[in-house]
Amino acid sequence: MDNLIQFAYVVSAALFIFGLKQLGSPATARRGNMISSTGMLLAIVAALLDQGIVEYQWIVAGIIVGGAIGAAAARMVQMTAMPEMVALFNGFGGMASLLVGAAALSPGADTFTLVTIVLSILIGGLTFTGSLVAYGKLSEKISSAAVLFSGQQVVNSIIVAAILGSAVMFCMNPDNTLWLFLVIALSLVFGVMAVIPIGGADMPVVISLLNSYSGLAACAAGFAVDNNILIVAGSLVGASGIILTQIMCKAMNRSLSNVLFSGFGSGKTEATEVEGEIKPISVEDAFYVLEAASSVAIIPGYGMAVAQAQHVVKELMELLEHNGAEVNFGIHPVAGRMPGHMNVLLAEADVPYDQLLEMDDINPRMETVDVAIVIGANDVVNPAAREVESSPIYGMPVINVDSARTVFVLKRSMASGFAGIENPLFYKDNTRMLFGDAKESIGGLVREFS
Ligand code: TAP
Repeated sequence: MDNLIQFAYVVSAALFIFGLKQLGSPATARRGNMISSTGMLLAIVAALLDQGIVEYQWIVAGIIVGGAIGAAAARMVQMTAMPEMVALFNGFGGMASLLVGAAALSPGADTFTLVTIVLSILIGGLTFTGSLVAYGKLSEKISSAAVLFSGQQVVNSIIVAAILGSAVMFCMNPDNTLWLFLVIALSLVFGVMAVIPIGGADMPVVISLLNSYSGLAACAAGFAVDNNILIVAGSLVGASGIILTQIMCKAMNRSLSNVLFSGFGSGKTEATEVEGEIKPISVEDAFYVLEAASSVAIIPGYGMAVAQAQHVVKELMELLEHNGAEVNFGIHPVAGRMPGHMNVLLAEADVPYDQLLEMDDINPRMETVDVAIVIGANDVVNPAAREVESSPIYGMPVINVDSARTVFVLKRSMASGFAGIENPLFYKDNTRMLFGDAKESIGGLVREFS
């Protein structure tokens, strides 16, 4: 039986890895999700057959209640609230590891087990409260501003030192559970302290990092209860979370420590000198230009999500194609506010995947594009990232829409984007500003075409 269970674990691990691989492209992501879920089902069944199970009533009750809540939450959640939901899932994952770690404590445990118990409790605890704060900030249930105070780093260092001290004391005196309770309490406090200095708009990066932590906590819990599949699954989550965090930081041209400690995104703005003048355009005039275009690139950003303009954008795409134009979308890795934000919205509107080009694929074609339509994007098309060395986003890779023959920028005002900086694109000779809500402006263009 034991061999069969271990074999089932190996198969589950393989399914997790295949599933993850398929999640890499929108076209195969659904299948990837199904494959990984099947792996998880197999892992759960195998774990339930393991000889360590004492009684099934609580487990079955947990599966029914947890499964029902999870299914209902996943059905009801708005697409734009997905990062909040992921934050809650990470938090509960952390709490689960904390509980598993604590339950693994038995008299006579060896030092290795004690260390893994402490690690699952420590990482699980800070993931739990950190994720709750991240959820609160993202959903604006608490202020999303970065909370910074003098001596913050010192306070945090003292907490970390106290956690380490209590952890060592516990490993040396495992019979005195007071030390363990101290580790639990301090890690819960540390989770809050680690996330409050981070501005609400940086939360997606933090959530990805907490996701990684929840995996590490599960991995430690796997060692504590000696369960191979928990170790493997935890490592996969830990590694993929940290890779996603890295990708996001790189695409924003910021280091992880800058995200974690700088209080960025807390509402600071900076003035940049720009030359040129703003040239507004009307919907009718924009239509005439688009009617004559044979190649169009659409670059969506956070404003398309705010305006919920994805469906009318799809209509415009079809009308342009009907008119003989080639239409592609340029997707920046951090456009919007969560990984894959634009892909998800455009998939919802049934825009074909093969027309969604990544930044590195669309940039070389930009010089041949007649009209680039920037829909509620700002930072991800800001040429200051290439041209202005003093800019906070200097060096960040951006979509070079300014290389297109004509650029239409659809936004409501001259307000800045997430980074709070001026955008010289709006003042360039070939740029026309189409002011207004993106859904209304595109709706106007659709009416002109039809
Ligand atoms: P932003 O730079 O945030 O700009 C969005 C623009 O949309 C704003 O300038 C706004 O201008 C416009 N807008 C808002 N509502 C609109 C509406 N209803 N109709 C038309 N326009 C509207 O967006 P972006 O270019 O997508 O860049 C994303 C930013 O978020 C980057 O700085 C990135 O680093 C950051 N970030 C991204 C992520 C991920 S994972 N995606 C995570 C953390 C941070 P008006 O107010 O004038 O309309």
